[in-house]
Amino acid sequence: MLECKSVSVTHGKKISALKGISLEVREGEIVALIGGNGAGKSTFLRTVSGLHRSDGGEIQFQGRRIDHMAPHNISALGIAHVPEGRRIFSRLTVLENLELGFYLQRGSLKSALENIFRIFPVLKERVFQSAGTLSGGEQQMLAMGRSLMSNPRLLMLDEPSMGLSPILVERIFDTIRAINGRGVTVLLVEQNAKQSLGIAHRAYVLETGRVVLEGKGADLLENDQIRQAYLGSS
Ligand SMILES: Nc1ncnc2c1ncn2[C@@H]1O[C@H](COP(=O)(O)OP(=O)(O)OP(=O)(O)O)[C@@H](O)[C@H]1O
Ligand SMILES: [Mg+2]
Repeated sequence: MLECKSVSVTHGKKISALKGISLEVREGEIVALIGGNGAGKSTFLRTVSGLHRSDGGEIQFQGRRIDHMAPHNISALGIAHVPEGRRIFSRLTVLENLELGFYLQRGSLKSALENIFRIFPVLKERVFQSAGTLSGGEQQMLAMGRSLMSNPRLLMLDEPSMGLSPILVERIFDTIRAINGRGVTVLLVEQNAKQSLGIAHRAYVLETGRVVLEGKGADLLENDQIRQAYLGSS
């Protein structure tokens, strides 16, 4: 579905953030991208979304080259991106935020909303509440819900569990699995390696702009190198 070959990105003139990333996401998968601070995870998602220009390599989505396309055209192809730090519109209501995710869609707004409320019942209870007054976990659900309003084929999530309590982290990971169960392919960026490897079919480990390891989620969970570097055990 998504195929990236030797993608490199340089910030400004000197900072080489991605040094030839090759990875693929197949239809129906949850793929996790893990790695420490500054590894290039967010830069990678932003590059797929068209928010950064690559200066080498190739990105294809469903057989089509997208690495020179504008962000709105990439999103129209069915790639949704929930950025780090949940960019919701805090002065707008929950409903207004969700409606914004629908702006390019045809079909019934009502049934799209019902679909979102089935996944996130708490948002239904809070439709007229202004988004800025939601809890952190609810804001994350709203950010994910808004992205899903565009009915994407590929959902890219940048650290959805960041700053959430352990119980909410569980909820978010369960929800990601449920969304995937409804046929949405997921590319998940996380520092929370244990949970994300737990739900990922496959995963890639990024270090300073390079893929240093890849494999099945379950296998990487058992990998000594990963356990020491990311899971705090040996
Ligand atoms: N707009 C920018 N201009 C200059 N340097 C940038 C820019 N965005 C990111 N960088 C640098 O690129 C590198 C990769 O950053 P990126 O945000 O992709 O890392 P990350 O893996 O998402 O980290 P984190 O886990 O902390 O979110 C870092 O060294 C960062 O300082
Ligand atoms: Mg990041």
